[in-house]
Amino acid sequence: MQPQSSAEDLIDPHGRTVRDLRISVTDRCNFRCQYCMPAEGMQWLPREEILSFEEIERFARICTEHFGFDGIRLTGGEPLVRAHLPELVQRLASLNVDIALTTNGATLRLHAAALAKAGLKRINISLDSLRRDRFLELTRRDELDRVMDGIDSALSAGLNPVKINVVMMRGINDDEIVDFARFGREKGVTVRFIEFMPLEAGDVWNESLVVPAEEIVETINDAIPMEPITRGSEPAERWRYTDGNGEVGVIASVTRPFCGNCDRVRITAEGQFRTCLFAVDEFDMRTLLREEADDNKLVEAIKAAVGTKWAGHSIGQVNFIRPSRTMSQIGG
Ligand code: 5AD
Ligand code: SF4
Repeated sequence: MQPQSSAEDLIDPHGRTVRDLRISVTDRCNFRCQYCMPAEGMQWLPREEILSFEEIERFARICTEHFGFDGIRLTGGEPLVRAHLPELVQRLASLNVDIALTTNGATLRLHAAALAKAGLKRINISLDSLRRDRFLELTRRDELDRVMDGIDSALSAGLNPVKINVVMMRGINDDEIVDFARFGREKGVTVRFIEFMPLEAGDVWNESLVVPAEEIVETINDAIPMEPITRGSEPAERWRYTDGNGEVGVIASVTRPFCGNCDRVRITAEGQFRTCLFAVDEFDMRTLLREEADDNKLVEAIKAAVGTKWAGHSIGQVNFIRPSRTMSQIGG
């Protein structure tokens, strides 16, 4: 979609135009993925700390109408544990931008039709194993069948594209690369393999867990020949099968970071604005939203925050600082 003509471009200090907003709608989740949360003892934000739908809509409206953002993605935690999510989707759809959702799929079968009706177009479903026992080990929930039903519901609700995000981890699920590729071809969904990033609360991450995107591509290509699709500005490097039956993506967040093309900013469930997944600074938008500051104050606060957006993360370098929040608290 074209930015509105009255829009002011939001340009960061490195010349990138910011046009994509990721909104975390909750810090809660019905899974306890090993790399994201401890098995027990998560402290959730109290309800009143979470932005209301009105507050989210207002913030999103400023981003789209004032700054010409063209994409909004809802994330969590698990966004579908937030009650009445289709109502939020419907409010945001009225902003005339591309609305997407990232979910773990566990309850998607209950919501896919309502989400599509509310105006959701794109959906990414996270799934790190196709094997029931391994899925249980990774997520600490025996919900693989439910997620599979969720994928089917998304397809039958007409959501398009349906993408499956697979976080690849050496020695954990890297023996499933070709299985996932075949799965995507059979289901008619795009599988995207993501390099494991150092984000989790504990100390699970180390570089030896990263399966380089290049290796993932070679592994698939050996089994099912592929050719590259010319890359746009998106983080995924895309490949199509030479037999014409589908495509895959790889997101080389660690070995070939896409920071140079990054057009994203994020707002957490409690209204903290972040200019990078790995940002150290946060900007409190909730206070402004609740003080009923006029739009101009929010516009200026967004510009000031984007003025701190750095050129790129430094995963793997000595100066890297792990964010103090988990993925579920930032919003993937
Ligand atoms: N590295 C890469 N991807 C991650 N995700 C969660 N934690 C990590 C990590 N450390 C993914 C989830 C989901 C998306 C929201 O982010 O699996 O696909
Ligand atoms: Fe939930 Fe996603 Fe974290 Fe897993 S990675 S616990 S699904 S928020």
